[in-house]
Amino acid sequence: MTEHLPNLAITIVGTLDPAQQEIFDRLLTTAFYKPDQTEEERWADNDRYSSDDKVGYALAHSGDELVGGMILLERALPYGGRTVRLGGIGGVATDPAWRGRGIAESTLRAAMEALRQRGAEVAYLCAIPELGRRLYAKAGFAPLGRPYTYRGRSGKGYTDHDGWLAPLTDPALCAAMLADTATLDLAGSNW
Ligand SMILES: CC(C)(COP(=O)(O)OP(=O)(O)OC[C@H]1O[C@@H](n2cnc3c(N)ncnc32)[C@H](O)[C@@H]1OP(=O)(O)O)[C@@H](O)C(=O)NCCC(=O)NCCS
Repeated sequence: MTEHLPNLAITIVGTLDPAQQEIFDRLLTTAFYKPDQTEEERWADNDRYSSDDKVGYALAHSGDELVGGMILLERALPYGGRTVRLGGIGGVATDPAWRGRGIAESTLRAAMEALRQRGAEVAYLCAIPELGRRLYAKAGFAPLGRPYTYRGRSGKGYTDHDGWLAPLTDPALCAAMLADTATLDLAGSNW
């Protein structure tokens, strides 16, 4: 069980000023840095994951230092003849020097509450199974358990299998989406 860091301050903001944006971008670059990634793989990552639907940020500070954060997203998703207010979590990052102290877990809870307060019905994210089980399941996420499709910035279509959903304001809708067997189309990029 992770020992949680005391004195962690978590804030939810709609936008970042240029200085905050620079610090947040640096956190993402550091957290997601893959030394062996080829140019082609980097292009594919940029193509697949987009933050065009972002509605805010959850930021974790220890003192003045940004130690972790994530992006809050939202999309009107056509689903089963209706539109679902789909909340999303992306860019989940903890500074490597601060990992293993519950920062992502605490920040995720605040981010989920912020999405709920905005009125998002169901939350979506993508994650490998182990991280999903150890981190995201604690905030209510369950594996989608079937393929989902989305479009990259380039228009290229992708199919992946690492989707997770969690209830926000509509648990019955989330349960129905999880029980469905049809491929889920994200109607946009991945997050
Ligand atoms: C994933 C990441 C955000 C976790 O941050 P963190 O602040 O260290 O996470 P926490 O301390 O809150 O950990 C919460 C739980 O997740 C587990 N966990 C953390 N990172 C994990 C990983 N990479 N794989 C599997 N489990 C992980 C922890 O062990 C803990 O579980 P426990 O309480 O049962 O021990 C951080 O490792 C990171 O920035 N990674 C690189 C970017 C990334 O992969 N982002 C996620 C994309 S989906």
